[in-house]
Amino acid sequence: MDNINSYPIISPSILSADFACLKDEIKRVEPYVPWIHIDVMDGHFVPNITIGAPVVKSIRKVTDLFLDVHLMIEDPGFYVDSFIDAGSDLITFHFEAAKEKTLEIIKKIKSKNIKAGLSIKPKTDEKEIIKYLDFLDMVLIMTVEPGFGGQKFMEDCAKKIKTIREFSKDILIQVDGGINDKTAKTCLNLGANCLVSGNYIYKSPDIKSAILSLKN
Ligand code: DX5
Ligand code: ZN
Repeated sequence: MDNINSYPIISPSILSADFACLKDEIKRVEPYVPWIHIDVMDGHFVPNITIGAPVVKSIRKVTDLFLDVHLMIEDPGFYVDSFIDAGSDLITFHFEAAKEKTLEIIKKIKSKNIKAGLSIKPKTDEKEIIKYLDFLDMVLIMTVEPGFGGQKFMEDCAKKIKTIREFSKDILIQVDGGINDKTAKTCLNLGANCLVSGNYIYKSPDIKSAILSLKN
């Protein structure tokens, strides 16, 4: 297979994996991807509860994959240290949850020498985050309402990729929600270079082919 480290970066979302055997589920994708996407939900920012920092810490012990941690939580500034200490390589938080504290949180993450990402929900205008691009490693465009895997890709949200790409040639633009071989193509054509995919990868009978189909 082609170089797993080449663009686009594929980050399988373990939200669609079997939590009872998380280590095995991570090992299934490990040969084919450089990253793993960990969805943290608090039941307040989104109507679902998933996992917290102790689970990230346990995952850190069983894999060398780059830990791409997506915080869908209220008050990310308060919790960010625990996710840094747990061994995250990249922490993405939501602009809607941080608002005027956005820059402060980005700086806190970067001061620990890990990467910082900022995400926007489908109803948030991408222009609101342009002023933060110079401080960020990644922007995450949500193409579903955050909270659950297996939802339908919202075509309208994908246009935001193009706007962000016009403002920054080099930044990582990650897309999350409803990514499959067809929607991946749409996002890549618009300028995305990092794709999260949960159901399409984990529910596939052939994980390797599913991952390859996202890259090509
Ligand atoms: C949704 C999560 C996603 C989710 C994607 O709120 O942020 O990462 O796991 O799952 P799929 O690819 O199934 O839409
Ligand atoms: Zn996610």
